[in-house]
Amino acid sequence: MSRDLEVFNLVKAEKVEDLIYGLAIRGVTKHFHRTKRANSKPRLHQKFRQIFKPEKEVIRAVDDISLEVNIGEIYGILGANGSGKSTLIRLISTLLIPDAGSIHVFGDDVVTDSLKVRQVMNRVSVEASFFKRLSSAENLIYAARLYGIPAPEAERKSKQILERLGFDADRMNEEMEHLSRGMQQKVAIARALLTTPMLLLLDEPTTGLDPKSKRDVQAFIEEIRRERNAVIVLTTHDMAEAERLCDKIAIIDRGRFIAEGTVEELIASAPSQNGAPATLEDVFIALTGKSIEEEE
Ligand SMILES: Nc1ncnc2c1ncn2[C@@H]1O[C@H](COP(=O)(O)OP(=O)(O)O)[C@@H](O)[C@H]1O
Ligand SMILES: [Mg+2]
Repeated sequence: MSRDLEVFNLVKAEKVEDLIYGLAIRGVTKHFHRTKRANSKPRLHQKFRQIFKPEKEVIRAVDDISLEVNIGEIYGILGANGSGKSTLIRLISTLLIPDAGSIHVFGDDVVTDSLKVRQVMNRVSVEASFFKRLSSAENLIYAARLYGIPAPEAERKSKQILERLGFDADRMNEEMEHLSRGMQQKVAIARALLTTPMLLLLDEPTTGLDPKSKRDVQAFIEEIRRERNAVIVLTTHDMAEAERLCDKIAIIDRGRFIAEGTVEELIASAPSQNGAPATLEDVFIALTGKSIEEEE
């Protein structure tokens, strides 16, 4: 980075520390407005009101969240369905604009420098889209061309990543629509890693996978952490996964972070259960008053 650019970034970033962290989020909020659904048997005047002056409901999907992630760290966001995980990931990945607060990725603001941010970031999510009638190899080569990677290199790289993910190489030429959810997810991960993203966003990378695919994907995420100096943000509702993979965990509930720390720190904060050491699940229940599956 040139000296001028450095000074420019310094002026632009809200705090000097925002330049040091791979990812720095300060007080980010995102609300959605949804028309309230009418009750089952609305009276006539209620029907009219619903048409001419519909009642709006505010959903605080992400509510005043702050966090920092260092390079080389996996930051976990643990929460039930609907707690705001994907909204936060979409805000970081420039797909949504925050109502308030700021997000910096390696010192660049996701709103004003979105192009720069997109170049260093990749996101894997359950809604990943593919050309279903094309094979995984074709899909990966297509994506690689968009990134400017030559086809032979893309093919070699794709094969290598898929192999490490335990993807049956014989099936690389089979149409995507014939592959299981687990196999499709592996292709989504391979696609995100064709380039070398400095920020990798993994939105529930193992949700809905069979046990073997889940283990394959988790082992691969551990490998990436060892090999690459990237910033990884991972969302999950799986306690064991958060415990296994994440250096730091934030527990999210109704759009708010209600706890943050290493697994040890979180567990130390919970009362022990009749002498037995607390688990991450105990921490979650103590803080939210419910188990994570209850809301699923
Ligand atoms: N585009 C949207 N419009 C309206 N409400 C939304 C939208 N996206 C998410 N929500 C709502 O925001 C809340 C958080 O959703 P989400 O971030 O998808 O949670 P999670 O990923 O943890 O399951 C939910 O109540 C969801 O219904
Ligand atoms: Mg989600």
